[in-house]
Amino acid sequence: MLGRDLTSILDLSTEELAHVLDVSLGMKRDGAGPMLAGKTLALVFEKPSLRTRVSFEMAMRRLGGGAIALPPHEIQMGDREPVRDVARVLSRMVHGIAARTYAHETILELVEHASIPVVNALSEDEHPCQALADLLTLRERFGDLRGVRWTYVGDGNNVARSLAYASVKAGLHLTIATPPDFALLDADLETAGALDGGGTVTQTTDAHAAVREAAVVYTDVWASMGHEHELEGRKEHFQPYQLNGALMASAPADALVMHDLPAHRGEEISDEVIESDRSIVFDQAENRMHAQQALLALILAETTPGA
Ligand code: CP
Ligand code: NVA
Repeated sequence: MLGRDLTSILDLSTEELAHVLDVSLGMKRDGAGPMLAGKTLALVFEKPSLRTRVSFEMAMRRLGGGAIALPPHEIQMGDREPVRDVARVLSRMVHGIAARTYAHETILELVEHASIPVVNALSEDEHPCQALADLLTLRERFGDLRGVRWTYVGDGNNVARSLAYASVKAGLHLTIATPPDFALLDADLETAGALDGGGTVTQTTDAHAAVREAAVVYTDVWASMGHEHELEGRKEHFQPYQLNGALMASAPADALVMHDLPAHRGEEISDEVIESDRSIVFDQAENRMHAQQALLALILAETTPGA
């Protein structure tokens, strides 16, 4: 069984992470019964979403349960009422909360005041459900994850941090290539390096060297949600890190391409690369649903509102 909440990939032990992936593969292959019949997940959004909303809703539906999506204007969390009251009200009526927030502290505040499980559906610090789906996608491609080399090129952001933690736990070797001022913090790398699982994370500013041995090259947007106003100023720093034909020419000929989406063609990735037959971005998108279905089955099975 898993712990109550998933705020970070760090909330999963190495064994639990492997178990979520095993259950995801099994449910994707064989389906799952109505394990969450009568259960409801509240989806709290401070930011827009396509994949996260639809994948959580479909995951609950496929398990016989339901979901209530609450877009930003609906709750106005922290404005119309305090975060702690949102947590306490939802805890009386539904069985779990998945929340997409600006500050990571908002996720932690929901956890503190909720009596039901809280899942991080993206915060400024992490995107753990994306990392689960991405590892599931790699499991399908490579079988055993241990020893697989992959490279993340771009912003040292929430996605990069979750991939770093997940890589070490799953035995993958991740190289992160970022512009000099946009790297993950040393503290993040130290945290990742101290995890068990046998994987490694190294960071560099040399994108071409970073992809040289990569079985997979991954990128994400140059300016995350909430930072769009920084995009123009960032472009000159990030241009050498664009995932395009020239960068892929430095990677092995059979290297795959990943992106968590939404993609900004002509910015972090070229149209040619995302549309190429090396691109597995829609496998990743679909796997959000399968990975979250397993996660929800594992953490919501025993929950009761108001407990
Ligand atoms: N990858 C991802 O989280 O997509 P959305 O922002 O559309 O949910
Ligand atoms: N890093 C991006 C991921 C979007 C799914 C963001 O936070 O906007």
